[in-house]
Amino acid sequence: MSRQLNIGLFGFGVAGEGLYKAIQKAGMHGVHIRKICVKHETKTRNAPAGLFTTNKDEILNDPSINVIVEATNDADAAFTITITALGNGKHVVSAGKKMIARNLAALLQLQQETGCSFLYEASVCAAIPIIRNLEEYYRYSTLRSIRGIVNGSCNYILTKMLTEGAAYTDALKEAQAKGFAETDPVEDVAGFDAASKLQVLLFHACGVWVPQNDLLFSGISNIHATDITVAKQNGWQVKLVAQLVHIDKKNTTAWVLPQFVTGNDPLFGVNNEYNGIVLEDDCSEKQFFYGRGAGSKPTATALLQDVLSLQDDYHYHYTKNGSHQFTDEVLLYVYCNFNRNKKIPEQLFSAVHEWQMEGERQFITGSITYKSLKENNWWRHQDVSLILLPEGADHKTKVLKPVKKLQRDVLLS
Ligand SMILES: NC(=O)c1ccc[n+]([C@@H]2O[C@H](COP(=O)([O-])OP(=O)(O)OC[C@H]3O[C@@H](n4cnc5c(N)ncnc54)[C@H](OP(=O)(O)O)[C@@H]3O)[C@@H](O)[C@H]2O)c1
Repeated sequence: MSRQLNIGLFGFGVAGEGLYKAIQKAGMHGVHIRKICVKHETKTRNAPAGLFTTNKDEILNDPSINVIVEATNDADAAFTITITALGNGKHVVSAGKKMIARNLAALLQLQQETGCSFLYEASVCAAIPIIRNLEEYYRYSTLRSIRGIVNGSCNYILTKMLTEGAAYTDALKEAQAKGFAETDPVEDVAGFDAASKLQVLLFHACGVWVPQNDLLFSGISNIHATDITVAKQNGWQVKLVAQLVHIDKKNTTAWVLPQFVTGNDPLFGVNNEYNGIVLEDDCSEKQFFYGRGAGSKPTATALLQDVLSLQDDYHYHYTKNGSHQFTDEVLLYVYCNFNRNKKIPEQLFSAVHEWQMEGERQFITGSITYKSLKENNWWRHQDVSLILLPEGADHKTKVLKPVKKLQRDVLLS
């Protein structure tokens, strides 16, 4: 393609305006935003009025525009914009993880048919270049696992609960006031956002596309104050962790669940709105990526790097496409905390290792299959919290402090 990049930008919010400012600030040669399409005509904008339109075709049908940056907050509109742009021979850069996760297989096919690039580094952990690393550095390596804190809003809330003893609702309000969580936080706190990012990671790490409905995922809204106390007493943290694991050379599994993490875990130190990802491969063992996973500048940085790489005709290789298949035939070691008066279907556990009943709460630890959690909703009830035991935990792991300590310090408080 020509080295002159004429951009049609869709969306002028946190991500879109961030990109506009970054390009203005850098004064880049050969990179120009020609037109910006937004939804609402009358909003005040921090850019010349002549740049804006609300008519998408003005950009999509303009032959002088060769790059589309998609930074809207509407996944359906984003998909239409992306497929039309690719169909019209334009390269596309997107931040829209929801749209991408839903349509990855179709979008790959369209890239192959049109020969156009579709890049989306900003969609997973914004400023952490995880997709590019999976595509390039880990292209031929055999990954064992990827574990990440990929949602800054949840991480901010959990950090406040753990370090300041904040109640969930207060921590959420604070996250919203600081702009880390949306007014409607469901996408974040119920785990949808992290699940979308995990879908994208799965596609690049092992060539598996799993519809979101087939993934086991949950969020943080059921985390109970006593979970935080149990974590503190054990010297742990609670994190919402998106994880994929290669079970063997052909099979991969993946989930998003709250997890206790120990002080030895690199994710232990990932606090507030920050993101972190731990990759493990056969040869080099663990590597850790840390950084800002959201916000105007981090997201704009990732968008800009993708745009600039189009100057060299960069496209993803998808080398691992089809190399693995998804399996839900795995056993998970979990901790479960529920009300004293509640019954849970204990027969669904493969084994129960500990069961304590103290004060208002009951705690059990045990092993249960992925499939069972996927197919049964008892653990999603508002008064039940289910947290994965720390990395490497098995049935021998001592999970809770001795009962006496729990009685004195935790459960009767
Ligand atoms: N914010 C982050 O930190 C972050 C990080 C990584 C990825 N992302 C992703 O980046 C995307 C944008 O997020 P954001 O936070 O920048 O959203 P935002 O601040 O809510 O801005 C959304 C923008 O999209 C425009 N828009 C909505 N529907 C449109 C349509 N049909 N055609 C053209 N423009 C349309 C809106 O127009 P109006 O201004 O007229 O309302 C607005 O300018 C999302 O997919 C998000 O998941 C965001």
